[in-house]
Amino acid sequence: MIEKIKELEKEISDILSQVTEIDQVEKIRIDYLGKKGKITSMLKSLGSLELENRKKAGALLNKIKNTYMEKINNLKENLISSMQNEMMKKEWVDVSLSSNTEFIGHIHPITTMRYEVEDFFKSMGFMIADGPWLEDDYHNFEALNIPLDHPARDMQDTFWTEDGRLLRTHTSCVQIRVMGKYSPPIRAIAPGRVFRYESTDASHENTFNQVEGLMIDKGISVSHLIYTMKTLLSHVFKKDIKVRLRPGYFPFVEPGFELDFQCLFCGGEGCSVCKHTGWVELMPCGLVHPNVLKHGNIDPDEYSGFAFGLGLDRLVMMRYGINDIRYFNNPDIRFLRQF
Ligand code: PHE
Repeated sequence: MIEKIKELEKEISDILSQVTEIDQVEKIRIDYLGKKGKITSMLKSLGSLELENRKKAGALLNKIKNTYMEKINNLKENLISSMQNEMMKKEWVDVSLSSNTEFIGHIHPITTMRYEVEDFFKSMGFMIADGPWLEDDYHNFEALNIPLDHPARDMQDTFWTEDGRLLRTHTSCVQIRVMGKYSPPIRAIAPGRVFRYESTDASHENTFNQVEGLMIDKGISVSHLIYTMKTLLSHVFKKDIKVRLRPGYFPFVEPGFELDFQCLFCGGEGCSVCKHTGWVELMPCGLVHPNVLKHGNIDPDEYSGFAFGLGLDRLVMMRYGINDIRYFNNPDIRFLRQF
């Protein structure tokens, strides 16, 4: 009997040493220690033995039973904890990591600049005027002193529609619309999109943004224009900016100018941004031509005014050091996310 018991112990110990799965352990428990298990059955069969043998075999079997109960329980616990460790390794989460960033849309840098320019002019008593993108020849050219046969029409390559209208080539047409609606004193700006039928490069786009400015009153002169633009620039760039005027030709102003400001990158020393001149071209401007005032039903003998066409894109490019105007209309979100 004792031999049999020892064999049984060897058997169970061999089997247990090979298990890797928790289900196998449970099966072994049932097979050996369950109600009909091998050890249980052997314990039951002890009754047929003589007292002395029964005692010995009983003690041994009980010892084995307890030992293996404990071993099986330990094995189960070990398997469970190594399973858990395995899971922890695989399903590991770093809770200190920031969560997936959701990108929230924001305002386009051109629009931000436009709002700033609008706020500035509003604080100086200017109204914000608007006009249609799809314009007629009269507002875009004729009323601006550019009659049909005028060579200046070639200065602005135009998208024409089949019915003879056009995509406005500048915001100057809003000057005419404002004069048609209001009488002097007039202080207005007209920010908005303009279109040119031209091939694009780093400084030319077919769609870009201007802010037209118009101030008409008695005795308006070039000094009002210079003061206004200098103040605008210091507002936008948060420092004092030097400006200069060069003669420029536009049929709707007389005299006409190009207004430059001192290069912000080199402070006027000369660098690649200002093409080594120390100055950056900002906007054309001038005093409103008497013919234009007449088209707006304003008497040029009584009133004068200044007008300018500020390039918004250029201003944003200067602020952020952007070297290609085409980025603004490019759908590459990586560009826009930088602002
Ligand atoms: N409309 C002109 C252009 O787009 C700019 C301009 C505006 C010039 C006002 C003078 C006065 O080129």
